Amino acid sequence: MNSARLIRLEPDMPDIPLLFQPYTLRGVTLKNRVVVSPMGTYSAEDGRLTPFQFAHYERMAMGGAGLVIMEQTFVTRAGRVSNGDPGLWADSHIEPMSRLVSEMKRYGARTGIQISHGGRKGGQQRAYDGNGPITERDLAAGDEPLYPMGASALPLAEEWLTPIEMNEAQIEGIVEAFVAGARRALLASFDLLELHLAHGYLLQSFLSPLANQRRDRWGGSLENRMRLPLTVVERLRDIMPDSMPLLARLSVTDWMEGGWTEDDSVILAGKLKEAGVDLIDCSSGGNMRAGATNSNLARGPGYQVALSDRLRREAGIATAAVGMIRTPQYAEEILQGGKADLVCIGRQILFNPFWVRHAAWEMGVERDFATWPEPYGWWLDKWARALAANGEDPLGPERFPEPS
Ligand SMILES: Cc1cc2nc3c(=O)[nH]c(=O)nc-3n(C[C@H](O)[C@H](O)[C@H](O)COP(=O)(O)O)c2cc1C
Repeated sequence: MNSARLIRLEPDMPDIPLLFQPYTLRGVTLKNRVVVSPMGTYSAEDGRLTPFQFAHYERMAMGGAGLVIMEQTFVTRAGRVSNGDPGLWADSHIEPMSRLVSEMKRYGARTGIQISHGGRKGGQQRAYDGNGPITERDLAAGDEPLYPMGASALPLAEEWLTPIEMNEAQIEGIVEAFVAGARRALLASFDLLELHLAHGYLLQSFLSPLANQRRDRWGGSLENRMRLPLTVVERLRDIMPDSMPLLARLSVTDWMEGGWTEDDSVILAGKLKEAGVDLIDCSSGGNMRAGATNSNLARGPGYQVALSDRLRREAGIATAAVGMIRTPQYAEEILQGGKADLVCIGRQILFNPFWVRHAAWEMGVERDFATWPEPYGWWLDKWARALAANGEDPLGPERFPEPS
């Protein structure tokens, strides 16, 4: 797709690829336009971060991304998707998060956290334990039961738990829980918040007619279905400093007949912008019957980029593109084409946590290891010179994959 447009800059060329140019949202400047996409690690205990999460996120920050968004983190204990999910429902969650945030900032990364409620997708096993409903065996092993609730008492599919239909008091309670969770995230000193309006979790499920068949003020018309996400955004904006960006990850389409559509998203994006959302992270799906999330499906390179392009153009809001963006050249092409302001990298950066630094090397942006952690950089600089003397390159045969 993009091999004809490979951008090869020499180190002394003044132009810097957009991917490596800073980007500012409100009072927060990212050093480059690469975002580590929020990805669940299922490694928390009682909502508290564990050593694996410290190792994981510090490595992501060390890897050079401009922004690291911490995984979906839950504002109520019962609203978790799995027992391994991190939480923001208790003050005891703040201290470990605050330690993690300051460690990540040591590497120059900006830090975000995705705040969420599982909705009708709650009460699942950790993905790597089976990804089905919590079983007697899980309970015997120490997991607690989690009870999904949603806009309507409609399970995602036959094998999923049936959620209880939320009453007015429960809806109000969830709004308060988002506010309380956001306050804790502020106390942990994250640079920004991302509200999870995607993948069939609670807030997105209110948007989608596939999951929301209510007849009160929270369902029915588009305006009613948008009410809960917009209410949460307004309440969050009230407590967030003006200088702090608020992002929303949106399933721009359900990809399903009778579901949430791209056209709906253009309308919602305008309203989110008015309510104080600064950027929409454009994902899709999650209300699907086949597979819990979109990333379970086989998809081609940049399968969601067109969604970002459309919202950016038609709603006039900044966007991030995500989904099978694997090479820096392709990421640069998306930015150059005005299809997104930021690119989120998910599985490719799990595979190679130094993706950003390798991209900087590949694109000729940094060939001296000056911004690498000092204990590595000093040696690697000498090593690269030695390799160059042999006509070799640090990336060696492990070049970036070419998109098919
Ligand atoms: C292990 C794993 C966990 C994920 N957890 C989340 C999550 O917590 N929140 C979210 O919005 N998306 C989540 N996603 C989706 C990713 O953020 C990303 O949108 C998706 O993987 C597509 O991007 P990619 O092709 O670069 O991986 C997860 C994906 C993976 C692979």
